[in-house]
Amino acid sequence: MRFRFASLLAVLAVGFTCTGQAQILIAFGQQSTLEDFSHNLAPRVGSPEHAVDKMLEVANLKPGETLYDLGCGDGRILITAASRYKAKGVGIEISENLARTAAERVKKAGLQSQVKIIHGDFMKTDLSAANVVTLYLATAANDTLRPNLERYLKPMTRVVSYDYPIPGWKPIETSETEGRTNAVHTIYLYQVPTSIINKK
Ligand SMILES: C[S@@+](CC[C@H](N)C(=O)[O-])C[C@H]1O[C@@H](n2cnc3c(N)ncnc32)[C@H](O)[C@@H]1O
Repeated sequence: MRFRFASLLAVLAVGFTCTGQAQILIAFGQQSTLEDFSHNLAPRVGSPEHAVDKMLEVANLKPGETLYDLGCGDGRILITAASRYKAKGVGIEISENLARTAAERVKKAGLQSQVKIIHGDFMKTDLSAANVVTLYLATAANDTLRPNLERYLKPMTRVVSYDYPIPGWKPIETSETEGRTNAVHTIYLYQVPTSIINKK
């Protein structure tokens, strides 16, 4: 009990210093552990609308394909993918607050049959059903995630990363888009190399 209380205090401290109030809700609601916070690999900033459009265009998403957004935030990429491209979507989000918001937005858009939101850690998720993966994390997070991408993804699965490359992978295409401040941001398109899959 003493240990649990100490852990909870530590979690609250981390929540305060790292990402604010939403994390504190998780600590209370879910009895989160310090491990949960150490797996939060990116800040909660949504992609700008035109970046979402460009990422999906670059992904060449087809009707019926399944897009995984790893760290889906409020679900904006999934909602556009499902409504505009008739794709299926799976979003994994570590923040309980954001996962709830995403699920509510999906419901409001009437897309529950196409889009599933999972409140969880994408580092602990089987990604093998994906045809397309979208990322807006950070270079270090992409590096941490890469072994899982190589482990789970089928050959030729497209991976689109906004702003940050995947270290060790060579993009098949890069394009540029404006960010919030008119600065230029890069979108990286990868295709899971058959050479990696052949090593399995
Ligand atoms: C920069 S935001 C991108 C949100 C959304 N993909 C978009 O482009 O609008 C990164 C998201 O990843 C989530 N996240 C970070 N680490 C995670 C993890 N290990 N598992 C699931 N979600 C995570 C954060 O909570 C945050 O919402």
